Amino acid sequence: MTNATGLSLENPGGLTSKINVRSDMVFKVPDNITDEEVAMVEPTAVGLHAIHLADIKVGDKVLIIGSGIIGLTSTMFAKLEGASYVAVSEVNEARGNKAVELNVADEYFKADDKFLETVSSKIPTGFDVVIECCGNSNAVGSSLMTVKPGGTVVLVGVSLNPVTIPTVVAVMRELNLKGAIAYTKEEFKTCIELMSNKQIDVKKFVSEIVGLNEVQSSYEKLTSGDSDVIKILVDPNIY
Ligand SMILES: NC(=O)c1ccc[n+]([C@@H]2O[C@H](COP(=O)([O-])OP(=O)(O)OC[C@H]3O[C@@H](n4cnc5c(N)ncnc54)[C@H](O)[C@@H]3O)[C@@H](O)[C@H]2O)c1
Repeated sequence: MTNATGLSLENPGGLTSKINVRSDMVFKVPDNITDEEVAMVEPTAVGLHAIHLADIKVGDKVLIIGSGIIGLTSTMFAKLEGASYVAVSEVNEARGNKAVELNVADEYFKADDKFLETVSSKIPTGFDVVIECCGNSNAVGSSLMTVKPGGTVVLVGVSLNPVTIPTVVAVMRELNLKGAIAYTKEEFKTCIELMSNKQIDVKKFVSEIVGLNEVQSSYEKLTSGDSDVIKILVDPNIY
């Protein structure tokens, strides 16, 4: 049995069977939610916060760049907010296709050399909203290039290093650029309620549940770039 104390930069927590956290960081969850769903509340709340900041209007066309778990929860909420068409772009074809197969995205665009050309022939006016869920300069640059003039780009992806982006596009198109970090307590509670009321299904994003001895191989699978695996949950009680 492993133990961890608190969540901080020095001790990011997780991957442990017991953990001490501040009482104000604990939420009581209803009995009708499974442990798998509880583990999914956090990334689901990230998607909800991004969509709240995006201020999507009914009928909007939305592009989500990157279809990892953050991209997919954002895609799910973009639809629930009333977007009429939500596409994802991905460099990993298996993940892009899965976003459509899971019935979350309407369409998948491969993020290759022809990406901008393909998107502009399909959506010549540009997307009303683009949510960037990768953090690299290619993806952030694509978000600026695919949104309509005056449109909104929400930056969710994190890069610890500076990224190079064509700022002139943001200037010329008078874009609204917003950063999104984490979620509010209310949004976290909302995700618990949505799961408890069976209004969202996030179990479909859980590809595998593994024990601590499979953590390394799971990270390798997730970062391979060609796997369709989305979310791997770690159950520290599995040996
Ligand atoms: N802002 C926040 O509060 C917050 C919270 C959690 C995660 N994040 C960040 O959000 C991002 C997504 O998280 P995740 O867990 O889904 O990560 P992930 O690595 O599982 O997913 C990112 C996906 O983006 C794809 N990708 C990379 N470059 C691309 C490009 N140019 N075009 C299209 N797709 C591209 C990758 O193939 C991958 O599938 C990460 O940067 C993460 O650090 C931010």
